Amino acid sequence: MQKTICKELLELYNTHFKLDLLIESFRVIGYGLGTLLSVVFFSMGAISITSLGACLKSFGSLQTTYDLFLNNLNSMQESYLFFNDYLAFMKVKEGPPQNCHTADTFDSVAAEHLSFKYPNQTKNALHDISFSVKQGEKIAIVGENGSGKTTLCKILANLYSPTGKILWNGLPYNRCSVSALFQDYVKYCATVKLNVVLSDIKNIDKDAQISKILSENGLGKLPLDLKLGKELDGTELSEGQWQRLALSRAEFPNSEILIFDEPTAAVDAVAERELFEKLISNSDGKTLFLVTHRIGSARLADRIIVLEHGKIAETGTHEQLMSNRGKYYEMFNAQAKWYA
Ligand SMILES: Nc1ncnc2c1ncn2[C@@H]1O[C@H](COP(=O)(O)OP(=O)(O)OP(=O)(O)O)[C@@H](O)[C@H]1O
Ligand SMILES: [Mg+2]
Repeated sequence: MQKTICKELLELYNTHFKLDLLIESFRVIGYGLGTLLSVVFFSMGAISITSLGACLKSFGSLQTTYDLFLNNLNSMQESYLFFNDYLAFMKVKEGPPQNCHTADTFDSVAAEHLSFKYPNQTKNALHDISFSVKQGEKIAIVGENGSGKTTLCKILANLYSPTGKILWNGLPYNRCSVSALFQDYVKYCATVKLNVVLSDIKNIDKDAQISKILSENGLGKLPLDLKLGKELDGTELSEGQWQRLALSRAEFPNSEILIFDEPTAAVDAVAERELFEKLISNSDGKTLFLVTHRIGSARLADRIIVLEHGKIAETGTHEQLMSNRGKYYEMFNAQAKWYA
């Protein structure tokens, strides 16, 4: 994937360079020829000094118009590349993914020897991952940057197809009733209410439920009809507030399985812990996957999965992992000063 993008960019820069060179060459040759001819005609007495001045001036403005025209052609070609992506996206059929199950109640999910490699990469982002999670369990996923946490969340949300098996209720189908909030969440330039209900638009009229979720996430003071974002001349929220809003959107559909990939990275450690406590207590019976870099939040979970270089380094409760004195213990000690 990265290689393809790099190739496309290189081709784009290459074309840009060639076009710029062409524009410059035309400008120099055109201006030079025009000036030369005007001077020759003037010296032959074919044109007056006033006409010579007028010719030189009009050559100048012709060059500018010509430059503008070529530059527009240049940017049209660039937009065309993005437009192709847009057309391809619009052709994607709406609706649940193939082989998708919603009918029965969620009971368990088991990963068996999952591996995943991003397109055009040589190394696996995840390698030989196996674990099993029962309905209602709260799982924290921790690990250093690049250890594979987001990749694992995206696999659980059916966004990537790994090798190995992923079994929902013991069967190899895709699960639809999953709600997820990723690190690169969207800030919709729309009202506060729309920002929440976009995850479950059929319940757009449930104002009381929307207000309840917002206030649980510390946004109770925001009016539902408040317009957000610069494009609408609306209010601009802080990074932490946008994240709380995205969190509310992920909670709104009342899904059985919730995946939160660093849902509170933009809020401070104390506020994150409070939000995690709230998420855990509000999700009775639901299954939760929470990615965090903060051990103080991870220890609230029933079980913790520690990822390292795309593999599971260890898994267990906070107490078990502390007594293991492995990667988790190391991370805990590195952060201990935050909690002292
Ligand atoms: N779209 C992508 N294309 C290619 N490689 C990717 C892509 N996304 C992630 N990777 C690679 O996969 C590995 C795991 O990335 P991932 O985003 O899952 O890590 P992470 O644990 O979530 O990191 P962080 O704590 O920074 O969010 C990394 O080596 C990363 O470079
Ligand atoms: Mg990540």
